[in-house]
Amino acid sequence: MKNILFIASEGVPFIKTGGLADVVGSLPQCIDKKYFDVRVMMPKYMCMYQDKKDMMKYLTHFYMDYNGKREYVGVLEAEYNGVRYYFIDNEFYFNGDKPYGNIIYDLEKFIFFDKAALSALPLIGFKPDIVHCHDWQTGLIPVYLKDSFRGGDFFKDIKSIMTIHNLKFQGTYDVPTIKGLSGLPDYYFAPDKLEAYKDANMLKGGIVFADVITTVSETYAEEIKTEFYGEKLDGLLKARANDLRGIVNGIDYDVFDPEKDDLITRRYNKKNFRKEKVKNKLALQEELGLAQDEKTMMIGIVSRLTGQKGFDLIAYIMEELCHDNVQIVVLGTGEDKYENMFRYFDWKFGDRVSANIYYSEELSHKIYASSDAFLMPSLFEPCGLSQLMALRYGTVPIVRETGGLKDTVSAYNEYEGTGTGFSFTNYNAHEMLGAIRYAEHIYYDRKREWNKIIDRDMAADFSWHVSASKYMEMYDWLIG
Ligand code: ADP
Ligand code: GLC
Repeated sequence: MKNILFIASEGVPFIKTGGLADVVGSLPQCIDKKYFDVRVMMPKYMCMYQDKKDMMKYLTHFYMDYNGKREYVGVLEAEYNGVRYYFIDNEFYFNGDKPYGNIIYDLEKFIFFDKAALSALPLIGFKPDIVHCHDWQTGLIPVYLKDSFRGGDFFKDIKSIMTIHNLKFQGTYDVPTIKGLSGLPDYYFAPDKLEAYKDANMLKGGIVFADVITTVSETYAEEIKTEFYGEKLDGLLKARANDLRGIVNGIDYDVFDPEKDDLITRRYNKKNFRKEKVKNKLALQEELGLAQDEKTMMIGIVSRLTGQKGFDLIAYIMEELCHDNVQIVVLGTGEDKYENMFRYFDWKFGDRVSANIYYSEELSHKIYASSDAFLMPSLFEPCGLSQLMALRYGTVPIVRETGGLKDTVSAYNEYEGTGTGFSFTNYNAHEMLGAIRYAEHIYYDRKREWNKIIDRDMAADFSWHVSASKYMEMYDWLIG
């Protein structure tokens, strides 16, 4: 039996702000339990829902020196869908109404977490062969494993994997602050280690010191070696290219299943979607106060409202698009300028635009099930899970050809009768509008063709099946 420990800052069903939580929640369940004992460790945030906290049992606690103080570290555990979860508890660091806030507090919080997570392992008696770290919040773990946690039998053979879910966020601050918090010696704060452009960079530490680096699609693994996508780490990623690979994410096909979904109005499947899917649209139109018409093309958006997701393109052509015969349903939170843009268009075009500026699992499922098309014109997209959810619900994605969007959505080709969605190449608003209008044309004028696209969408398989076996091969290879 080989032991794998996922260490991450969020994971479904306990806490979620984005796709990272979906991956940390679903991938471990798909790793073969005959060969691997996979467990997951994350902070116990005060803002977790009470029913999730009620699932946790106290395991042990200890005290750890950190930032000049003696800090309490509690360890709790829970079992969920056959996977064991550990939670690191400290009410000072993990308080607040959301997992992330101001960068300086976040740094102090996650450096504490990284140190506490490793320190807890001997006490809970789980010795991983591999710690599988996710994003900048866990960037110091590979560093610590080569440094202060190296001595003694327990830690010395532990291998580390750093998975990059989003290179944009790196956990960067001035050197004295990170040196002080981490307790790492001067040696590490040089440009070939944690230092980047005069500052200290936690993700860079993870990338330099992990045994293997992965990211969440093959295209993104290539893109991040270029200046445009490399977020100033392209040089380092090129240097580590032999240890870097892309494995595309999957989604949990039990949670996202139009045939079994409790959150949607009318369930449907590959065979009956032609008659049944539209009942979801009619119900959602009523619920959101849109004009009720089963024929009108509904375009859905479920997203963090940030520049990454291409909202500058949408802002540019939104007025024009609202004059087409479409309805636009948005669910998301994020930057004020995008939230307010959608609120404005909702006010101006009330019967055709619905802006829902909040977080809701339930509404997200309803949008995936009800919409005819799903718009995701990202500037960059490491993988993207929303388009996979759309495909699963027979909702045709309209995407920009970047990162995981490029790897998971194939462009409709009317001559060959192939493709699962509509796409465009350049980050250009009218190129996007062209793709949306082409989709409108197929939807309104060639309905049979449109339905065949849905056939292909619902037949596609983006469950974890294939990708989980790639992770298992990698674990095997790394453990040797
Ligand atoms: P990212 O991780 O960059 O935000 P992904 O596409 O990988 O993008 O994952 C986003 C996840 O978050 C999806 O599961 C999506 O349904 C969900 N999501 C985003 N915004 C909301 C929201 N306002 N309400 C509910 N779910 C949301
Ligand atoms: C990040 C990326 C997204 C990816 C998710 C899970 O949040 O922005 O593209 O799907 O992580 O890997």
